Amino acid sequence: MRRHFPLSEPRIEHSGMMHALTDEEDQVINQELFEATREELATRRYAVLRPDVIISAIDRLKLCAAVFQDARLEADQPDMHPNRSRADAVLKFAWRGSDLDLRLGPNPSAVPETRQVVRYTANHEGDREYLRLRALDIPELRKLLVGLLNLIPRESRREKGLLGVHALRTFGDIVFVRHRDGSVDAPVDWVASYVASKSGDGAETQLTLDQDGKLLIAKAVLAQGQLAVHHDATFFHYVTPLVSGGPDGKQRDAVVITIRPDFE
Ligand SMILES: [Fe+2]
Repeated sequence: MRRHFPLSEPRIEHSGMMHALTDEEDQVINQELFEATREELATRRYAVLRPDVIISAIDRLKLCAAVFQDARLEADQPDMHPNRSRADAVLKFAWRGSDLDLRLGPNPSAVPETRQVVRYTANHEGDREYLRLRALDIPELRKLLVGLLNLIPRESRREKGLLGVHALRTFGDIVFVRHRDGSVDAPVDWVASYVASKSGDGAETQLTLDQDGKLLIAKAVLAQGQLAVHHDATFFHYVTPLVSGGPDGKQRDAVVITIRPDFE
């Protein structure tokens, strides 16, 4: 059953012009599940949604076609990940009452039309620059982002902040160490992983209280269409490698989204 988000009337600001979301964008697939997940996030600080709750399976396929194309991805820097392709966007969000503004975020690239600078100091010193993911131009991705921002419990929301949107294609190893995305000088509030497509087994997401991985709190193998969200400072996160390949070999296309403060 499709119903509107109850607590907000999201609006998108795109390329400097604001427009209301269409009815189609302003909906989630399963409102009751959505509400229950928000409760879980408020109490447990992590949640895993069933597949295709925020965007439909058809929209997921459209998202895959728009985002995960070889020509729209480039190799990561080898010291970050030797076998990962990616594209990145940094957006700004702002709640104005129950309205949500979403627009392009900071990007000190010399060629901001096509390149995006990202900065997380927790696991890498210095700025990195990648192909820019045109997140606001892809309706299904916009809808996913708006849904995610609505999913965060109201008492935990910042009035404004940044969204890091990272399209990541991996083929075996997904991440190498248990880690947090945020650091003291570049904190992250929430981390979300949305699996757009997956071929092969494995890739178990794990949340632990310690970096050694002894205090396991949650684990889940995310299927296509599943979204997992956790509070970055509460947990260390890790994903086990993909193992035996499926019909298309070992490949996982995921959109990782960070929600973080904007101190500017
Ligand atoms: Fe991470």
